[in-house]
Amino acid sequence: VKTVRVQLQPSYDVLIGKGLLASAGRRIERLVGASRYLVVTSRTVGKLYADQLIASFEGRTPVSVIGIPDGERAKNPAMLARVLEQFAKTGADRKSCVIALGGGVIGDLAGFAASVYMRGIPVVQIPTTLLAQVDAAIGGKTAVNLAAGKNLVGTFHQPRLVIADTSVLQTLPQRELRAGFFEVIKCGAIRDAALFRLMERDATRLLAGNEAALARVITAAVKVKANVVAADERESDLRRILNFGHTIGHALEAATAYCTLLHGEAVGLGMIAAAEIGVNAGVTPEAVAERVIACTLAYGPLPKPRVTMGSVLRALVLDKKAQDSTPRFVLLNAIGSTVIRKDVPGAVIKSASRSVVA
Ligand SMILES: NC(=O)c1ccc[n+]([C@@H]2O[C@H](COP(=O)([O-])OP(=O)(O)OC[C@H]3O[C@@H](n4cnc5c(N)ncnc54)[C@H](O)[C@@H]3O)[C@@H](O)[C@H]2O)c1
Ligand SMILES: [Zn+2]
Repeated sequence: VKTVRVQLQPSYDVLIGKGLLASAGRRIERLVGASRYLVVTSRTVGKLYADQLIASFEGRTPVSVIGIPDGERAKNPAMLARVLEQFAKTGADRKSCVIALGGGVIGDLAGFAASVYMRGIPVVQIPTTLLAQVDAAIGGKTAVNLAAGKNLVGTFHQPRLVIADTSVLQTLPQRELRAGFFEVIKCGAIRDAALFRLMERDATRLLAGNEAALARVITAAVKVKANVVAADERESDLRRILNFGHTIGHALEAATAYCTLLHGEAVGLGMIAAAEIGVNAGVTPEAVAERVIACTLAYGPLPKPRVTMGSVLRALVLDKKAQDSTPRFVLLNAIGSTVIRKDVPGAVIKSASRSVVA
């Protein structure tokens, strides 16, 4: 078992390893000691893993399961209210603890519910997608979507513990696994050249689900995210580097109405665009851009979405992170090192965007 400490207030551990679900109950009980555990999970993940998680408590403490429908559409205020009503119905009180068992959708929703139920009860994150293990479960951000946009309502609520079991990734659809790898490549590209080299070297093993290789890159990626958020708990300057590939990525997601691309895939395309922008802005050496593009494509296929350039550029300007309607770009000046630029010429943005749409 690998352990990464997240140095936030309060601090907590991320455990990474094979078959951790079997010992989850014992570890959680020892750390939290709640009088009841409320497992929030999706139908798909619950069917696969809820029994194993419940069994790991060996009947010492009551465990209730709250199942919610799969998918991003479930991450809404009405579902949040339903989850909270379920907590109350099962007799949850301030000594209860929520366990989020699922992907980022479950982590965000269950984390939010825990943060507001009786003004806040503990949450343990058990992320079951690669994306959630390296990103969503760490840093304490919770959210639900509004009709007006994604993640518009949320809280900060740090988990007591994060358990990333590499074995659960064996049942993850291949496309979801690939999408997670793009975020791992991102972590290497912005802050850890050794992780980036591992992603270059181990593509075949990782795509085949080799657990030792997975544990290695997940641990390194978690360290990058943990270090960045710890240095910058509330979204100021440093945290922005995590948005490498996300400026164009978010625009592509918005231009496709969040229907065609998985988030990680949009980030993959966004990193390719950011590499080109970096070269044209005189920030990124050609050789660095070539490595980023080749490594990203090794985790493809990465189909270019069929959208108009106009819709991408409009989405770029509307992005909530853009200020004065000039988008901010995280660019690489080397593998593992970033520069943030607000003055990228429109023509450079356009030509890079053109290369990632059909
Ligand atoms: N809080 C944060 O800091 C943060 C960061 C990044 C993303 N997010 C959020 O995370 C969400 C995306 O998360 P995601 O990519 O994990 O998607 P997801 O939660 O929708 O999961 C993807 C799919 O995989 C299935 N699944 C999950 N684990 C499985 C397993 N082990 N075996 C088989 N199937 C499995 C799920 O049922 C779902 O259908 C978005 O809502 C995004 O906003 C939050
Ligand atoms: Zn992302």
